[in-house]
Order: sequence, then C-alpha cells, then structure tokens
Amino acid sequence: MKIRFLFIVILFWCAKGYAQKFEGLALTPPMGWNSWNTFQVDISDELVRGIADKMVSSGMKDAGYTYLVLDDGWMAMERDSLTGNLVPDPKKFPNGMKVLVDYVHSKGLKFGLYNCAGTKTCAGYPGTRGYEYQDARYYASLGIDYLKFDWCNTDGINAKEAYTTMSKALKAAGHPIVFSLCEWGTNKPWLWAENVGELWRTTGDISAIFDGFLDHGTWKQQGVMPIVDLQIGLRKYAGPGHWNDPDMLEVGNGMTVNEDRTHFSMWCMLAAPLIAGNDLRKMSAETETILINKEVIAVNQDKLGIEGFKYKDKDSLEVWVKPLDKDNWAACFLNRSQAPVKVNFNWKEEIINDTLFKKTLNANQQTYKIRNLWSHSMQGDTQKPLVALVPSHDVIMVRLSK
Ligand code: GLA
Repeated sequence: MKIRFLFIVILFWCAKGYAQKFEGLALTPPMGWNSWNTFQVDISDELVRGIADKMVSSGMKDAGYTYLVLDDGWMAMERDSLTGNLVPDPKKFPNGMKVLVDYVHSKGLKFGLYNCAGTKTCAGYPGTRGYEYQDARYYASLGIDYLKFDWCNTDGINAKEAYTTMSKALKAAGHPIVFSLCEWGTNKPWLWAENVGELWRTTGDISAIFDGFLDHGTWKQQGVMPIVDLQIGLRKYAGPGHWNDPDMLEVGNGMTVNEDRTHFSMWCMLAAPLIAGNDLRKMSAETETILINKEVIAVNQDKLGIEGFKYKDKDSLEVWVKPLDKDNWAACFLNRSQAPVKVNFNWKEEIINDTLFKKTLNANQQTYKIRNLWSHSMQGDTQKPLVALVPSHDVIMVRLSK
C-alpha cells in the first residue's frame, strides 16, 4: 500500500516537473526595453550597446528595467547550411551575438531575443518550426535570459502545442529563460499558458495613438485605449510568474505627454510588463520622467501581483483601482475625453469590493492617506472627497495607505 502511494507521488512529481516551465521567473511583471516599436528590423551591435549604456546612465536600470530584447530582424536570412543553427546577421552584428550578450550582462542587465513559432518570422527571417530544441540549445549557449516567441507563418498549427513544445525545449536546454508568448490573444493563451511561459500577449500590435486604430488593410494596429478596453475580464488569469501582456510601451513615440502619462499609468494599473519601446538614447526629459517614476512603477511591481480593474465609469471618466500589498490601494482617475473633467470622488460613499481577490476598500472603517503619484505629494486622506480637474487624455493616480 505504502509503496503504491510512493509510486503515485513519484509519478505525479515527474509529470509535473516535465510539463513545467522554470520556476520563480518574473514574479513581478518583467521590465525592460525592446527594439521593435522604434527600430523594426533596423538594429545593430552599436544600437544595443548604446541602449544598454543609456539604460544604466538614465537610471532606468535602477528603476527596474532589466531586459534588453532584440526583436525581429537580428538573424541572417538563412540558417547555417551545415549545422542548421540560427545565424546573427553578420552585417548588423559583425562581432556575433555572444559578445553582445556578454556586454549587456556586464552592465548588470539581461538579454533577450525574438523568434517565431512558424516557419518564418513576421519579417521573413528563419522561424523555429521544426528546430525548437536546437534553437533552445543555441539560446542557452548564448546565455540569453528572455525569448519573445511570435505567431506568424504558423499555417493552422495548434498554439497550445506549439508554445508548449518551445517551453519544454527551453526547459530541456537548462538555462532559465523568461518565455514571452506573442500570439496576439488569438487562441486565448490566458486559458492555457500559466505553466508554459511568463507572459502572453492579449491583443494585436500597439501603435503610438491614444484612441482608435491604424488601419493597414489586412491588419490593424491598436491605440492605447482600445487595448485597455480589451483587457477587461482577463485579470483573474494573471499573477506572480504569469502575466497578461497588452504589448510594449509607446511612451516617447509620438503621443502627447498627457497621453504618455496615461498609457504608462494604465499599464501599471494593469500589472502589465513594462517594456519600453522608444529610442532611449534620444528621449526627452518628459519621457524620462514618465518611464522612471518609481512611485508609479511600485504600483506595477507590487508583490501581490493583482491586476487592477475598472471600478466605475461615468461619461468619459473612468475610475480604476488596484489592490496592493499591506492593504494599500492604487486608484487612477482616467479622463478619455477631449476636454478637462472634474472629479469629485467621495471615498465614504464608495465601498470598493474586489470580489475576485477578496479585498475591500471601505473608507468608513479605515482612513487612508492619499499620495498623488505624479505630483509626488500628499493629497489629504479619505475622510474628504477627492476633488480635482483631470486634463484631457490624462490621469490622476494616487496611492492609498493606512
Ligand atoms: C509581430 C509582433 C510584434 C513584433 C513583430 C516583428 O507583429 O506582434 O510585436 O514582434 O511581429 O515582426
């Protein structure tokens, strides 16, 4: 009897170990930089070094941005004809990839690469289909820390199977790698990817517009607000080690400062990965102030890892809340309209219940101090209503603490 029990336990343990991703990666949403939003395939050795240097000198690294990820376009058009290995583009990366990985590591940062589950990447470079274990060994040999895995040219294959195969290949190669699934939410990865990777895209590609879409005919890039709307209903699937990913940041890529601030605040409220996508080497002081706001980042990186939710909306004003560690809360008053809107929020009349994560904000039972996370100043407490004017396309974001 005892032996049979032991056998079952061992069997269960083996099955679990085999199926599982690396443990303990990305316990808070991953933070970093990715080349795609600004550079597309126009990337190089020089760019990576410049970005790595700026991540350190600007204070981004200190603020938590760790991963420097090269997106599509880092490979030559063909695999090595003898070994079948992927080859870094020799023109863009004349010193190869390993020296660059070492350089980025020497700065105290981590390095990531991109590939695709299909036969070719979205930009037409060699895809991983049929080479999963070989590519995983190649990434392990480079010592990279992050893999973004896209979904072009997949010709009807099963997403769960394809991503699980790559996840197992990474595990078998033995080097811990954050696995970022990028199939745009098409196959609802939130239902099956918790043990496959650390983050999964929930939506199509972002674009640096606040509202609306950028229409390319066969596909559309989405603005920040439509992406926010599409996150509703997904919060129950996210948590430490497995995150909904509403795509990389467009802060500093052409929206107004107010819109950039709103975009960043909402990504923090949503516990989204914070992957900057601007040219850090040339960013303005305003962009830098947004990306490095440590008080707002602390909301994103809160250790409970609970994604925020829309508590209410009235006309164009939305109130989002996020439970935080130590019974703190973040609240974000979002004005989606073209004109300023007055907020008058009486905490004592608003009993906020997060039924999913069993948290309650009740200002009648507990007075909370209010800190404005963009002006970095205290703004009274929950005994009095919060009265303020929110500029167009902007937010007031506060932290409530006891
Ligand atoms: C897809 C992804 C983008 C980017 C490009 C690269 O569109 O969603 O984030 O990686 O491919 O080709």
